Amino acid sequence: MTHDILGYAGKRCVVMGCFSGTGEALARQLVALGAEVHGADIKPSPVGLASFTTVDLKDRDSIEAGVAAIDGEIDALFNVSGLPQTFPGEDVVTVNFVGLRHWTQTCLPRIPDGGAIVTVSSLAGMAWLTKQPLLREFMALTDFAEARAWYLANRERAGDPYTLSKEAINTWTQMSAPELMRRGIRINATMPSPIDTPMLADFAQIAGEAVLGAFAKAKGRFSTPEEQALPLILLNSDAASFISGVCLPVDAGLAGGLATGVLDIQKMIAEAGARSPA
Ligand SMILES: NC(=O)c1ccc[n+]([C@@H]2O[C@H](COP(=O)([O-])OP(=O)(O)OC[C@H]3O[C@@H](n4cnc5c(N)ncnc54)[C@H](O)[C@@H]3O)[C@@H](O)[C@H]2O)c1
Repeated sequence: MTHDILGYAGKRCVVMGCFSGTGEALARQLVALGAEVHGADIKPSPVGLASFTTVDLKDRDSIEAGVAAIDGEIDALFNVSGLPQTFPGEDVVTVNFVGLRHWTQTCLPRIPDGGAIVTVSSLAGMAWLTKQPLLREFMALTDFAEARAWYLANRERAGDPYTLSKEAINTWTQMSAPELMRRGIRINATMPSPIDTPMLADFAQIAGEAVLGAFAKAKGRFSTPEEQALPLILLNSDAASFISGVCLPVDAGLAGGLATGVLDIQKMIAEAGARSPA
């Protein structure tokens, strides 16, 4: 008999963002672990799931209808969906944060004691603790139209919409953890460095191959979707029962190297640029 330390056999899991990349890999792994996996995304999932519901995170009504369509309790909620900066900034902040937060809050009454939530943030959001006044101003807006209008009116100050949305996820994760723990629910986030998924081409378009190459330098390659999916599985598993309010870098040591000055991002970009054929 195997010892199921992750505890996914028979667990009801919901994956938001199971069409491609990390979310697709995650859904496949959860099915293989014996979980009952329900998926949601704006596009249909290629994975054989217990159910799939079309949800557009830009649309409040679509979110609420989507949660209603998924019957019963949710033991483990995985928030993976995201948009890169190649999309309009007001859509990026809505999908990545405002919509994702509303989706989570609408799911919450269905999450029992012992349940867990994990959201994919990004290393792009790693400076969240240095931007709190701006982030709190944005995060105070729960109305979708007001949040979009705030972003459009504050574009200069708010900066890159992708970064803003991921910093907001980190802040919200840490702010929510104490209250959720009183209900026995854990909430965490991961901060991946670049992942070899369809989104990578969008980042290359925005940042350039040299900058992206620098972020791959910690291990000499980008992570695979599976290498990002498994830490999500760990954080929502029984093995992580005392972990909450954590924003975990999944980056082969990049964030730690930068924080301690062992790695120098400008030098890494210059080196990656020198090797780039462009
Ligand atoms: N690829 C990277 O380099 C990288 C790095 C750090 C963090 N991330 C984050 O990882 C997560 C997964 O992205 P990925 O890299 O697997 O890319 P991906 O493009 O394969 O996945 C993004 C998913 O979000 C879904 N989505 C897009 N718009 C939506 C909407 N309006 N409503 C619901 N779902 C929507 C897509 O259909 C897709 O399934 C994202 O949150 C992304 O920001 C990616």
